[in-house]
Amino acid sequence: MANSQPGILGGIPAQARYLTFTVSHNANPTDVLTAIADCYYPEATVIGLGDSLIGYCGKQVDGLTTFPSYSHGGVDVPATPAALWIWLRGSDQGELLHLSRAITNRLDGLMEAEHCVDAFRFREGRDLSGYEDGTENPTGADAEAAALVNGQDEELTGSSFVAVQQWLHDLDYFQSLPQQDQDNIIGRRLADNEELDDAPESAHVKRTAQESFQPEAFLLRRSMPWSELNQCGLMFVAFGQSVAAFEAQLERMTGAKDGLTDAVFRFSRPISGSYFWCPPASGNQLDLSAIV
Ligand code: HEM
Repeated sequence: MANSQPGILGGIPAQARYLTFTVSHNANPTDVLTAIADCYYPEATVIGLGDSLIGYCGKQVDGLTTFPSYSHGGVDVPATPAALWIWLRGSDQGELLHLSRAITNRLDGLMEAEHCVDAFRFREGRDLSGYEDGTENPTGADAEAAALVNGQDEELTGSSFVAVQQWLHDLDYFQSLPQQDQDNIIGRRLADNEELDDAPESAHVKRTAQESFQPEAFLLRRSMPWSELNQCGLMFVAFGQSVAAFEAQLERMTGAKDGLTDAVFRFSRPISGSYFWCPPASGNQLDLSAIV
C-alpha cells in the first residue's frame, strides 16, 4: 500500500535498534508530535505511537488497546506500555548509533529515552535457537492484508498495529536438549525446516498455526535476534491490521483457556510487551492527521 511506512512490509535488515520513550513532564503535545514527525526517515525507521501518547494528545485510535498480561501455570507474560517506539533499520551499526543520537536529541525535553535494544539478522533470518523464523509469513498482497489497515476510516488506512515483545532465551538449556526435543518444541525439523506432522500438541507451530483460528489469525512477523552482555533472545515484532490475531495467538500460547502451554516457554520467556499504532506515511512525511 502506497501510504504505509515502508519498513513494515520491507524485509528484515542486517542491523536494527529499538528505542522506546516516555513523555516528559509538561511537554506540549503539539511540540511532541512535531518532533516525532521529524524523527521519521522512511528508509531507516518505523515509528509506533503508544496509547498513553495518543491520549496525551487528547485523541484515541480505535483498536489500540492495552497489551494483555498473563500469570498462571508457571507462565508470566508482562505488559510494559511505552509512549513511543522507534525501530531503526539499516546495515551499519555505526549509522544506527548516529541516527539514534539525532532522534534522541530532537526529542530532548519532550520525550525521555527509556530502553534501547540492539538487534541483528542471524544467518538468513533465524532465531538464535537456530530455527528459521518467518517461514509461514504471508507475502505480497496477503502480507498487506494481514498487516495494514484498509477499512472505512480513511485516516487510518495504511496504518498498522504492532505487537512488540522481547523474549529472553535460555540457550544453554535449549542446546542441552536432544535434537528431537528441540524439533518438538518448535514443531519443525532444524535440518530441513520441514513441519513435523507428529509433533506434540504443545509444539509452537501447532499452537500458532494461523489457519487454525476462528477467524484465521494471520500476522506479519518481523522479529529479530537481540543480545546484550550475556543475555540474548528474540525481539518478537508482529504487524497486524488489528491486534486481534496477535492476541488470539498469545492467549493460546499461554494455555489460558485449555491449560496447554506453548513449548517455547520451556526455553524462553517474554520480559516486555506493548502495542503501538504505526501511522500511515506518504513520501518523507508521517501522516499524523488521525491524531492532531
Ligand atoms: C521466543 C519466542 C518465539 C520464537 C523463538 C518463535 C519462533 C518461531 C519459529 C521458529 C517458527 C516457525 C517458522 C515460521 O513459520 O516462522 C514460528 C512460527 C510462528 N510463530 Fe513464533 N516464535 C516466538 C514467539 C511467537 C509469538 C509471541 C507469537 C504470537 C503471539 C508467534 C507466532 C507465530 C506464528 C503465527 C507462526 C506461524 C505459524 C503457522 O501458521 O505455521 N511466535 N515461530
